[in-house]
Amino acid sequence: MTLALSVDGLSVWYGEERAVHSVALEVPVGKVLALIGETGSGKSSVALAAARLLPPRARMEGRVLVAGEEMSALSGAQLRRLRGEKVGFVTQDALAGLNPVMRVGRQIAEVFQFHRNLNRRESAARAVESIEQVRIPEPAAVARLYPHQLSGGMRQRIMIAIALALRPPVVIADEPTTALDVSTQADILRLVRELCAELGTGILWITHDMGVVAEVADLVAVMYAGRIVEHGHAASVFDRQQHPYTRALLRTLHDMRAGQPGDPLFQIEGQPPSLNTVITGCPFHPRCPMATSLCATEEPVSQRFGGLEGTESGLVACHHLGDQAGAMT
Ligand SMILES: Nc1ncnc2c1ncn2[C@@H]1O[C@H](COP(=O)(O)OP(=O)(O)OP(=O)(O)O)[C@@H](O)[C@H]1O
Ligand SMILES: [Mg+2]
Repeated sequence: MTLALSVDGLSVWYGEERAVHSVALEVPVGKVLALIGETGSGKSSVALAAARLLPPRARMEGRVLVAGEEMSALSGAQLRRLRGEKVGFVTQDALAGLNPVMRVGRQIAEVFQFHRNLNRRESAARAVESIEQVRIPEPAAVARLYPHQLSGGMRQRIMIAIALALRPPVVIADEPTTALDVSTQADILRLVRELCAELGTGILWITHDMGVVAEVADLVAVMYAGRIVEHGHAASVFDRQQHPYTRALLRTLHDMRAGQPGDPLFQIEGQPPSLNTVITGCPFHPRCPMATSLCATEEPVSQRFGGLEGTESGLVACHHLGDQAGAMT
């Protein structure tokens, strides 16, 4: 299996506080990995670290491979050049990702000027093609607009056009939490999925919309308190929900759909631990219905279930994995 993105032993600290704990993720070529979890679980920190875009006061450790090439060792000018070439990034905040005082066509054109040494006219033509590729009607007219003249969904399409412009092996997208309505978001993810399958790009997609995840993700990784607690094929994560946290998260799906815009996204009893809490045992044990004394004292390691390939396989960090498998058969 060829991997577009592979992250291993990734940890992130903001000052003394550790937001990400030894995370491992794999995004195969042309596939979508959805990264899900409550607010503050560390999803954006993983995305930013993988794209080497963390703020200066953050520190990271671990390996990031893009199409088999080590990214962790690069710095400065090398990184700027590789960003866009190797990793396309769509930020959580589409307005922050775009320059408000520059026409969107120009913003895309600059990518071609900087990375491909095209002149103004050639790069402008490529920008229009890029806008057309994300299925925006009248691309030449849209190229002349400023970000504030576009809807939230259109702005996100422009961000995607920029992210895909140089055909990077992987696109990392941090979905806006509230800015877009669910159907717009679903349309966009379907579009990205189509484009990436077409171009062979792998996607790491951070989302709060489980409905969309169920529909378009090939793989799912569930984050809790800076750790990946479950990682596997979407069908297996959804159907079997081996980790009690995954079950709790998916149970909120129905409530969420019935909820009002602006409602908290996941409502699971209790609170996740704050960054400065010292965690002993499984980070989920204070909220877990299955917790035993073992869970309170020993942190579970990720265990593989199923074969190495195939849709009935994955990784779960839970002391009760065996019990559940037994209970289900
Ligand atoms: N720049 C920063 N400085 C200090 N702490 C930070 C910074 N960015 C994130 N954190 C902290 O790291 C933890 C993980 O944050 P992160 O933004 O990665 O979570 P998230 O899963 O993306 O949340 P959301 O769903 O709300 O976007 C949180 O406790 C957050 O407060
Ligand atoms: Mg985030």
